[in-house]
Amino acid sequence: MSNQKIQIFDTTLRDGEQVPGCKLNTKEKVEVAKRLEALGVDVIEAGFPISSPGDFESVAAIASVVRDAVVCGLSRAVEKDIITAAESLQKAVRPRIHTGIGTSESHIRFKLNSTPEKIVERAVSAVALAKRYVEDVEFYAEDAGRTDNEFLAFICEKAVQAGATVLNIPDTTGYCLPEEYGAKIKFLKENVKGVHNVTLSTHCHNDLGMATANSISGVINGATQIECTINGIGERAGNTALEEVVMVLKQHPLLNKTTGVDSRQLNAISKYVSETMRVPVQPNKAIVGANAFAHSSGIHQDGVIKKRETYEIIDPKEVGVDHSSIVLTARSGRAALAYRMKNIGYELTRDELDIVYKSFLDTADAKKEVLDDDLHEIAANRLKVAV
Ligand code: KIV
Ligand code: ZN
Repeated sequence: MSNQKIQIFDTTLRDGEQVPGCKLNTKEKVEVAKRLEALGVDVIEAGFPISSPGDFESVAAIASVVRDAVVCGLSRAVEKDIITAAESLQKAVRPRIHTGIGTSESHIRFKLNSTPEKIVERAVSAVALAKRYVEDVEFYAEDAGRTDNEFLAFICEKAVQAGATVLNIPDTTGYCLPEEYGAKIKFLKENVKGVHNVTLSTHCHNDLGMATANSISGVINGATQIECTINGIGERAGNTALEEVVMVLKQHPLLNKTTGVDSRQLNAISKYVSETMRVPVQPNKAIVGANAFAHSSGIHQDGVIKKRETYEIIDPKEVGVDHSSIVLTARSGRAALAYRMKNIGYELTRDELDIVYKSFLDTADAKKEVLDDDLHEIAANRLKVAV
């Protein structure tokens, strides 16, 4: 059975850019969009055109350079938003308007001061209006994670009848458990008339650290699009990390899913986005963190030196990292030291290794990490004495 293709919808330039302090100008956004297209994402959410003239200009500029990926603009279920999104997407080869409204009880009552009936009406009008401008209309049910499933299915069905081609089910507050989110997607698959003719999309936030798990659970239960950002950047604790979902699907062949993303570009695009947006990547970040392929404890180093797979489930080259690294610390053993010494030109006998190891531990206790320069110094001082 051939693998089912999961669409990767990147929202680095819209939801991702909502991170405080990481505003990009149009030139920078166009460059990010070009790299996302080269990476192989299916949809680029370029911005929220009504939000500012600058964002409108960026979406329009991206729409005129991106050729293969769908270019999407966000709008609320508000006439002016939708018309502005449509204008900004005029030059797009494959335009999509992403429109929607809050559907949970708290969004309806407190944020929108409305009623479920009126919310359904607004959703339907918004989709129908967007449909007058573009064929591809995505409907989002904001806070779907905390929305009653029956009501969610009802409003989604109405959106499909009004012409929606994609149904986005955001866990806006990052609240759901993976089983719960997966069950929600399954419920929609089974209870929304016409759902088989549209794309069902996940859009998960990471407030409880479960955005990736929830997105994968959604896919296992029938979603065929994942919305995500590079490095998982986004509001509060961020969005689903693109690099994580892509690699989960790649590393688990039993899921029978694939994406169009060239994983070998992940490390480079992660660095580019981090530097351009001035949002550092935490060192232990899965896939793209500085320590994702670094081994520092003696037991692990010994295993990795004997066979990489003992402590690594991904070949670093698969994500664009040249090799795994053996970091020398006071927790490292003789195997790691001998390995590193050999890499920098010292083939040590057992006795020489014993001598060097003692000095190495002294240096390691004094410093956090022992670098190649320290090893050269130890070799110069200690091996000279020993010979
Ligand atoms: O998290 C969310 O609900 C969103 C929507 C606007 C799609 O970002
Ligand atoms: Zn979001």
